[in-house]
Amino acid sequence: MGRMIRSVWRGFMALCVMAPMASWAQDAPLPAVALGERLFGDVRFSNPGSQFSTSCASCHTPVTGPKGPRSFTDSEPRSLIPSSEKGAKLTTLRNAPTLIGAGKLTRFDWDGQYDSLEALVRDKMTGVQFGWLPGESARALDEIHTVLQNDNGELAATKIPYAAEFKTALDVDVASVSRDELLAASAKAIAEYVATLAPTRSARYDAFAFLNRINPAVAVADGDTPVDFAGRLFGRLMNQEGRQSVKAPLDFDMLAYKGLKIFFGIDGMEHQGNCVACHYPPDFTDNLFHNTGVSGEEYDSLHGPGSFGKYLANLKAPSDATRARPDKADPSKADLGHWNFAGPASPLRKEGEAEEFFQARMRAAFKTPALLNPALTDPYMHNGAYATTEDALRQKMRAGQAARESKDTTLDPEMALVNISEDDIPALAAFLNMLNEVGPDDYRHLIADGTHTLDGPFE
Ligand code: HEC
Ligand code: HEC
Repeated sequence: MGRMIRSVWRGFMALCVMAPMASWAQDAPLPAVALGERLFGDVRFSNPGSQFSTSCASCHTPVTGPKGPRSFTDSEPRSLIPSSEKGAKLTTLRNAPTLIGAGKLTRFDWDGQYDSLEALVRDKMTGVQFGWLPGESARALDEIHTVLQNDNGELAATKIPYAAEFKTALDVDVASVSRDELLAASAKAIAEYVATLAPTRSARYDAFAFLNRINPAVAVADGDTPVDFAGRLFGRLMNQEGRQSVKAPLDFDMLAYKGLKIFFGIDGMEHQGNCVACHYPPDFTDNLFHNTGVSGEEYDSLHGPGSFGKYLANLKAPSDATRARPDKADPSKADLGHWNFAGPASPLRKEGEAEEFFQARMRAAFKTPALLNPALTDPYMHNGAYATTEDALRQKMRAGQAARESKDTTLDPEMALVNISEDDIPALAAFLNMLNEVGPDDYRHLIADGTHTLDGPFE
């Protein structure tokens, strides 16, 4: 059925005269997707003995949260976990990522622990995120079963009981399937819903690319590299600048344009942010893992400058402590990201890469996050330690400098090419703002009557 709708949609796209890669289907959602969305927002699956109840949507807040507009993330550096202990305030290990684009990922979580969305959802529904302690997953399964079986549809907009919805959407009989099968079916529906949360490609950056006839994406599958992309982009821009005809959508000003050049500027160029090396379009991620110095900054802030370097030098096998929030009282605790999963089965090992080099490269390596709607996903980085985009950019500036001055040899080599100064921060922040999606209707306005020509001066 999904395939049928997709092919109909493709047919419709082909008829559109002006089709700026729109992916906003308006069709009614498929039954499994609608079920998944309902499960996503239902707070009755968390541990009923906890201080508060929670759902996926509590931490991955779809549109608006208590502190304003959001994009499938909350506003906390680390999210609050419902706990059954009185008075205990527990938080997640890391910052909740946005779910926009998550359906396209091949590795999930900041450290790539999961390679399947469904496996991740199964674990979260029966784990700490939902207030369950290790060893309580049987209770979690009972709770899910009880809620689904007893539901009378009262809380749903459709008023359809879960049992009927599971039957229609997945041909699952809630009363007779095993608890494990019920969890699997729920996870399948939720994963199908999450997979629909695609970017709409309606940011001012998309409009800018459209207006200046720049292919807004890097086609890695076709062997197109970020460096090729940067070359093409700058070739086109130089041409437009020469003819005084760099076009821009409403509110895309010279500051944002300067930021764009820094962002895409690679080794040997006048502006050199080298951001594109890891954050490449269309989603502004390479979906790979790098040590960009974030874990180290947090560790050093607690244990003194240089202490993370010493910690890494003395590192032994992965343990609970190497996948932990750093703690002033316990220097053995640090977050080493994908290193915890860098065993022989890790798909991230490059062909022919020496084991020692791979292990070193994966220490404190985290997934490059997509930069989609950055204004709605603060605070930033895996630990949520950076409140504003400017703070996040200053972290990049410091890490770039440390890598160049060889003060930190554990950082990803591409960081040495991140050569930005305090003067570049406002421009880069302005460019990041051009990555916020405005939605299909406003986008049409952006590329139609909201355009202007940038008047320079071009440096
Ligand atoms: C208590 C807060 C909380 C709840 C509840 C929660 N999540 Fe998350 N979610 C997080 C955090 C934090 C992470 C990052 C985990 C990590 O890297 O250690 C995450 C990661 C993810 C990811 C990986 C995204 C990526 O970019 O790799 C997906 C997908 C996801 N959650 C979906 C869900 C779904 C679906 C549910 C409901 C079944 C859910 N989450 C419930 C906080 C939460
Ligand atoms: C070597 C690869 C690499 C380069 C180069 C790089 N980044 Fe990143 N970026 C990452 C990774 C990995 C993270 C997550 C780090 C973490 O949380 O530990 C990240 C995080 C971010 C975040 C936080 C996003 C969020 O949702 O939390 C922003 C903003 C960002 N980068 C912007 C930039 C900009 C702008 C540049 C260029 C000045 C740049 N990056 C250069 C890999 C890179």
